[in-house]
Amino acid sequence: MCGIVGYVGHRQALEVVLAGLHRLEYRGYDSAGVAVLDGPGGLAVERKAGRLANLETRLDEVGRDRLAGTAGMGHTRWATHGPPVDRNAHPHRDAVGGLAVVHNGIIENFARLRAELEADGVEMASDTDTETVAHLTARAYQEGETAGDLPACVRAVCRRLEGAFTLVFCHADEPDQVVAARRSSPLVVGVGDGETFLASDVAAFIEHTRDAVELGQDQVVVITREGYQVTDFHGQPVETAPFRVNWDLSAAEKGGHDYFMLKEIQEQPAAVESTLRGHFAGGRIVLDEQRLADQDLRDVDKVFVVACGTAYHSGLVAKYAIEHWTRLPVECELASEFRYRDPVLDRDTLVVAISQSGETADTLEAVRHAREQKARVLAICNTNGAQIPRESDAVLYTHAGPEIGVAATKTFLAQIVANYLVGLALAQARGTKYPDEVAREFHELEAMPAAVQHTLGTVPQVRALGRELADSKAVLFLGRHVGFPVALEGALKLKELAYMHAEGFAAGELKHGPIALIEDGLPVVIVMPSPKGRAVLHSKLLSNINEIQARGARTIVIAEEGDGTVKPFADHLIEVPAVPTLMQPLVSSVPLQVLAAEIARCRGYDVDKPRNLAKSVTVE
Ligand code: M6R
Repeated sequence: MCGIVGYVGHRQALEVVLAGLHRLEYRGYDSAGVAVLDGPGGLAVERKAGRLANLETRLDEVGRDRLAGTAGMGHTRWATHGPPVDRNAHPHRDAVGGLAVVHNGIIENFARLRAELEADGVEMASDTDTETVAHLTARAYQEGETAGDLPACVRAVCRRLEGAFTLVFCHADEPDQVVAARRSSPLVVGVGDGETFLASDVAAFIEHTRDAVELGQDQVVVITREGYQVTDFHGQPVETAPFRVNWDLSAAEKGGHDYFMLKEIQEQPAAVESTLRGHFAGGRIVLDEQRLADQDLRDVDKVFVVACGTAYHSGLVAKYAIEHWTRLPVECELASEFRYRDPVLDRDTLVVAISQSGETADTLEAVRHAREQKARVLAICNTNGAQIPRESDAVLYTHAGPEIGVAATKTFLAQIVANYLVGLALAQARGTKYPDEVAREFHELEAMPAAVQHTLGTVPQVRALGRELADSKAVLFLGRHVGFPVALEGALKLKELAYMHAEGFAAGELKHGPIALIEDGLPVVIVMPSPKGRAVLHSKLLSNINEIQARGARTIVIAEEGDGTVKPFADHLIEVPAVPTLMQPLVSSVPLQVLAAEIARCRGYDVDKPRNLAKSVTVE
């Protein structure tokens, strides 16, 4: 949720930390702050509510040389405890200002800890859960058996904390080290030459090094100029898993686009292609990372898909394909609801947990619940080594590359493709599809990067339409079959980016209530199926369009190229290439992403950082 950067090295820490925060601002932008160590006793802190730009203005006012030093840390916040005002911005300090801490996550027992501190006369300067950690750690540093040993203090305090957290600490008396702890929130170490980094995401230090180390659960790391040491919360050294980041700085930059989202929309053909790469060999679907044997897949008698937001919509799409290919029942469930309704799970249930970030707390808890109930969990994730794949039995990575725009685009398409690979692997193992049928479906997927590329040709037309619709009060989205989740996704994009009332409906449901919303001029986007694929669905949707047009709606129809029958019903027609029915979401979603982004831009909103949102949601 929040973004964290730490640095010890030979450069000015302030500049390294600020550059890292810029790359992590997608994780939260309610406030930003930095702390820099400058020799014994020197700890300077600045923080400011609002975007990182506000902090930079503040730094210019106070003078950046006030924060000279080669060790430090920074934070960009998505507010949980207390409003986004200066006093709640991180870093938080102890009473004498000798120790500073930044935090991502939630300390669930903070009320008890805060009461304990207040009973001892500590005065709190903020509303946050984080500040309790600052006081507890500073106290441990002053007295008792951990006195003067910052890593030992951090371990001792972490043992008392409940919840999910990444914490990073600087102490004025320890000018050459930064200490961090991790439980269920992300933290990666970057290993450079004479410099070491810490961050919530490798994007923060990718311009300096691609050598990284993922921290495990309940671990503390000390970084210095020379490197890093990792222990568990009891001080025992632990093995770490170094890895090399397989993308570079250009992937985390806008590359000439006005905003990341537009760049990421354009990257969708490559995202689909990379996600497919290497997964078909010797006439078979190969999911080498999945760690589930064919026998495990044969034993499956029910599939649950759990996910949130856009990832959930990709799961809804997958339900159609997996049921069709495998004849297994598939339930798609919002992760936030899953474990609270006692779902029927056992060792023959396959739970597919889909998450771009691999950090989403709702999905992580659903995974934990499923595993407690002995179900097998397969994660579909875009982030190497994230918590959800770590806690799952198996993982299939989407290879969409880093997605910086808060609104998911290329990862949505990559998730659909990965879900389909799982469906085909199940069909192959269970024999519900002949090998040549599995091969044909895979080859259809292989044709999709070109089809998506072709669809990108609609961008100028859709942007023009977005400008026309920018003043609308609401937009409805309709679809049937796989077009229904596409409609839901189109509405979600418009809500989150343009702050516009938008609803997606199964077109057949319209007459059961939502048709009452139709009024003169209301834009309604209709996702048409192919007239050749599912002719019956096509003709039913034509009737639905008729019904809404008769009531004055302005119809915006996304239809297959050459579908002449739909033209009379479309006030605005967006043509996408003809592809098999199950592949249609991969093309029909694209114009909806562009439409939402353009409407948001016209309304003057920050397309990449919509209000109140953050890229990964690490709280339930
Ligand atoms: O990282 P995840 O895929 O688990 O995130 C799930 C949702 O929070 C995410 O898809 C969200 O709905 C996006 N902002 C939608 O564009």
